Amino acid sequence: MTQGQKNRNSRVRTIALLIFISAAIGGFFYPKTSAETFNQNPQPTPTPRTKKAQKKAAEPGENKSKYAKFTHETHVAQMELDCAACHKFPTANFDKVRSKDAAFPDVTDYPKHESCLDCHREQFFSGKPPAICSNCHVNPSPTDSSRHPFANPRELFDVSPKGKNAVSVFEVAFPHDKHIDIVSQTENPLKTDGNGVFFVRAGMRRAEESCSVCHQTYQPQGKSNDEYVTAPPKNLGDGYWLKKGTFKSVPLGHTACFTCHSEDTGILPAQKDCGTCHKLKKALPLTDFDPKSAEKMGILDKVMLDGWRTRTSAGKFRHEFESHADLSCSICHNVNTIVTTDYKTEKVAISSCNMCHITATSDDGGILNYEIDERKKNAKFECVKCHISYGRSAIPDSHLKAVTDAAKSD
Ligand code: HEC
Ligand code: HEC
Ligand code: HEC
Ligand code: HEC
Ligand code: HEC
Ligand code: HEC
Ligand code: HEC
Ligand code: HEC
Ligand code: HEC
Repeated sequence: MTQGQKNRNSRVRTIALLIFISAAIGGFFYPKTSAETFNQNPQPTPTPRTKKAQKKAAEPGENKSKYAKFTHETHVAQMELDCAACHKFPTANFDKVRSKDAAFPDVTDYPKHESCLDCHREQFFSGKPPAICSNCHVNPSPTDSSRHPFANPRELFDVSPKGKNAVSVFEVAFPHDKHIDIVSQTENPLKTDGNGVFFVRAGMRRAEESCSVCHQTYQPQGKSNDEYVTAPPKNLGDGYWLKKGTFKSVPLGHTACFTCHSEDTGILPAQKDCGTCHKLKKALPLTDFDPKSAEKMGILDKVMLDGWRTRTSAGKFRHEFESHADLSCSICHNVNTIVTTDYKTEKVAISSCNMCHITATSDDGGILNYEIDERKKNAKFECVKCHISYGRSAIPDSHLKAVTDAAKSD
């Protein structure tokens, strides 16, 4: 792609998104959720015909059938079906979901009937409409083929009723060490008005610059007067409220990856090898996140919520804050040891908060020293400077060691 094309592509993409959003707000695009779709059926309360259906109809609110909720746990983790058994690359609609100019071969639609029928013929023909249809269809009927937006592209999915609260069951396996030397940029190609390009130069050492190709400060405060993401209560005082520029973004889709991983370049994994990049998530450890306070703050943005939900070091750390933003990423993140499918390796060592928040003694101003001292005085003391939900737990050894180390090096 030339730079001109990229420019045009992102403009068209933005326009397509705007059209989509206004259509969605117009309300004729999608009914509320896939579950509610059933309730909005032209025949409001159809009389259940079978005993089974009657029993189900008697439990309002609960979903009528397990077949209304497809899971990869059953089909991938247990049955070990290959991704390609269902996901065909590319899907026919790839140049319709994104405008023709912005489009690249991609998987942007649901698997077709043929991927299910061998095993689910029965479910495809029982129920009015059959529950299984609603996984993919908005208003399933023999004559209506309209579908929810597929989870890719996220920009369309996230604003849809189905996508608003959806959390992916996959995480991405991305080996940083194999990429940072070869990914560089003239300008960030992912922002909507960007005109950047990727190019490959063996042995190039601009590691730090490469980070911003895929990670930007998300919704920065910039020059805006509003420090907070949503309006805080008047009596906030010293209390915590999410500030802009807290999170770094991560790639949302295939745009960056498929620039290099394509049939043209032959660089593996190929686009159709979904499972090389996508791995089923393992259980999340306790994270430094509180869904209730996020809700109270009115945080609905999925990029923020995805980032926050998986924070396992410091839920309150803010990247944009100037004392933090001036630091090199490598002070806190060692991309050579990060395995993106293993939370333990993504942890930021508390020693990277050294000098500024950790000092020889409390009198030197270290907030960690202060909080440890307070905790020692009062077992109920909550550490709130860096943490959201970790602050009531026992003090980790790493924290005590960081203070001893700071005292030693003093
Ligand atoms: C038996 C068919 C089937 C197989 C096998 C399958 N998928 Fe899916 N996949 C689906 C369906 C159906 C959906 C849509 C589900 C929905 O939106 O509720 C989906 C949605 C997805 C999504 C978006 C939802 C999410 O949780 O992020 C991703 C990503 C995905 N599949 C990746 C994969 C990968 C990777 C593999 C192989 C490891 C795979 N799928 C195997 C049928 C399948
Ligand atoms: C190779 C056989 C096979 C294929 C292909 C297959 N399924 Fe399944 N599916 C199963 C089995 C087995 C179960 C578990 C038993 C049951 O609930 O019927 C299941 C369960 C389900 C369920 C219940 C929830 C869950 O995930 O456990 C849904 C919904 C479903 N399948 C949808 C689909 C859709 C949609 C497709 C096509 C995209 C598909 N299946 C393809 C075999 C298959
Ligand atoms: C796993 C997702 C999935 C499920 C489940 C599913 N569909 Fe579809 N359906 C699709 C896709 C994708 C297409 C577009 C196929 C194409 O372009 O060839 C489609 C097409 C259609 C069409 C257009 C005509 C055709 O056959 O191509 C109708 C009508 C339809 N589906 C109804 C249903 C009904 C009714 C059910 C439930 C019995 C159902 N679908 C279940 C994904 C699904
Ligand atoms: C080509 C794109 C790309 C480049 C370049 C890149 N990353 Fe990443 N990074 C990713 C992807 C993809 C993930 C996994 C995201 C996910 O888990 O959703 C990731 C994950 C991370 C994480 C872990 C995020 C978490 O959830 O805790 C950190 C930290 C990180 N990258 C830092 C960096 C730094 C520092 C650089 C520059 C030296 C860099 N990355 C360069 C794509 C990239
Ligand atoms: C002073 C330390 C520090 C510096 C410098 C820093 N980060 Fe982070 N970063 C963190 C912490 C702490 C987290 C939260 C980790 C957690 O709790 O899981 C984080 C999280 C992330 C994440 C995951 C998304 C999120 O915000 O939770 C990415 C991606 C990331 N950083 C990229 C970068 C990049 C790229 C740079 C350089 C431009 C950078 N970071 C500089 C400390 C730092
Ligand atoms: C600038 C080009 C470029 C971009 C952009 C890029 N890759 Fe790669 N990727 C490569 C090359 C070249 C290799 C082969 C490296 C090697 O084998 O040493 C590779 C290898 C890989 C591998 C296989 C590593 C292994 O162990 O064999 C995975 C997985 C991968 N990339 C995922 C991604 C994902 C995910 C993205 C998007 C976030 C992405 N790549 C973006 C060039 C790129
Ligand atoms: C080269 C690596 C790579 C390959 C190959 C790949 N993906 Fe992805 N995919 C990504 C990355 C990176 C993201 C964005 C980050 C994320 O989802 O966490 C993504 C995002 C997605 C999303 C939307 C976000 C989500 O997780 O819900 C879907 C759906 C998806 N991929 C499905 C597929 C399917 C299906 C295939 C195979 C046809 C495939 N991908 C092949 C790297 C890849
Ligand atoms: C300057 C910021 C900062 C302060 C102050 C702070 N922490 Fe942490 N905390 C971190 C970082 C960074 C991590 C991730 C590295 C680690 O686990 O050591 C972390 C991790 C944790 C964890 C998770 C440990 C694990 O094994 O998963 C707990 C629990 C925790 N802190 C409790 C506390 C308590 C209790 C206090 C008050 C005495 C405190 N923290 C003060 C930055 C801080
Ligand atoms: C180079 C010095 C420096 C480093 C290293 C540093 N910080 Fe900070 N940080 C500051 C300064 C200065 C402030 C503003 C004064 C204050 O709030 O203590 C600050 C403020 C904060 C705040 C409050 C921000 C706000 O917007 O209210 C948090 C939370 C924080 N830092 C966490 C961390 C964590 C966690 C680390 C390590 C992963 C870290 N910082 C590393 C200098 C640093």
